[in-house]
Amino acid sequence: MSNFKQAPHKLLVIPGPIEVHDSVLLANATPGTSHVSPAFVPVFGDCIRMLRKVLYAEKTGQPFLIAGSGTMGWDAAGANLIEAGDNAIVVDHGYFGAAFADCLETYGAKVTKITAPVGGIVSDEDLVAALKSQKVKLITITHVDTSTGVLAPAAHYSKLIKEHSPDTLIALDAVCSVASEEIRFDDWGLDIVISATQKGLGVPPGLSVVMASARALETLQNRKTPVPSYYINWNRWLPIMRAYEEGSAKYFATPPVQLIYALQVALKAITEESPSLEERFALHKKVSNHVKDELAKLGCGFVPLSRDIAANGMSAVKYPEGVSAAILPKLAALDVVVAGGLHKDIASTYFRVGHMGVTVTDASRGDIQKVLDAVKTVVTETKSA
Ligand SMILES: Cc1ncc(COP(=O)(O)O)c(C=O)c1O
Repeated sequence: MSNFKQAPHKLLVIPGPIEVHDSVLLANATPGTSHVSPAFVPVFGDCIRMLRKVLYAEKTGQPFLIAGSGTMGWDAAGANLIEAGDNAIVVDHGYFGAAFADCLETYGAKVTKITAPVGGIVSDEDLVAALKSQKVKLITITHVDTSTGVLAPAAHYSKLIKEHSPDTLIALDAVCSVASEEIRFDDWGLDIVISATQKGLGVPPGLSVVMASARALETLQNRKTPVPSYYINWNRWLPIMRAYEEGSAKYFATPPVQLIYALQVALKAITEESPSLEERFALHKKVSNHVKDELAKLGCGFVPLSRDIAANGMSAVKYPEGVSAAILPKLAALDVVVAGGLHKDIASTYFRVGHMGVTVTDASRGDIQKVLDAVKTVVTETKSA
């Protein structure tokens, strides 16, 4: 056991990046190591295997771990799965859904956006009607739209899509849901799950985390036109991922070695330590309900229109009467860093709090109480001023 301790700092409870455990930060400080060294190869292989566990993707999932951020996963979907003129549907629950649509259009997709009212979700009727009106190559669902805190019923939507348009590839943007919400890649029949390291996985930013199905890889093989990207072309990365998983190194572009050491430590904690994966999801739900109940007592409302479509890893919190974004610097002065509103229609009316990763799984840190106490203090002071 090392006695490394990170520097004292303000508590980071935005909906990602999040607080990072000392052991993960220490692994990120691994000395200079060759990306093809025998020491590093099994570390990369481990990460690939453990990602399958986190996403319940043991049957057909092919992980891609590539330097980049969550956004690069959108590019991976666009470049590898879309050919110019293909129809795509975007289930739009906020800023991130709409931005994914822009990304797919960059690759020539004809995108139909189904936009939910702010804080709501797309109805089954609208989803089915859109699927039936055209031959759809790809549909995207943002599991948690970080701008609204809305949790999409991803399993339910996937079932509907399988029923009404079985050939359509299903993309789940899980940047703000991996490791805080249950995702069953195999059972739900997902084709691409897109994430990143800096949220539920509890690792510094810098790695794009993608899972692709056998069907997605077949789609890539059957393209009529070349992949319109050099760096995120899966044909270049597939041999690399397979080599590392099989215990040898292969080069296309240098992986972020230290981040992969850090990811290994985080994934081991998630897949092998207490709480178990199932318990982790239940704990996020329990803590989320507690946070939302306590904030409601202070007069706060929430952007999601009902609790059953509210994310468990974050809350999009409406300011109580008489309170505004002016409380955010006051919270920071109490060492609690939350995020402002992001959805352009309502940005000034709400703020966002993350409750993911160690903040949730390690109660001894006292993070949740610290956040609730700070919000209570500044809201009470503001109201009585
Ligand atoms: C749901 C969602 N998708 C995509 C992204 C983009 O990820 P990144 O900022 O890592 O590029 C974010 C970032 O917050 C997100 O919350």
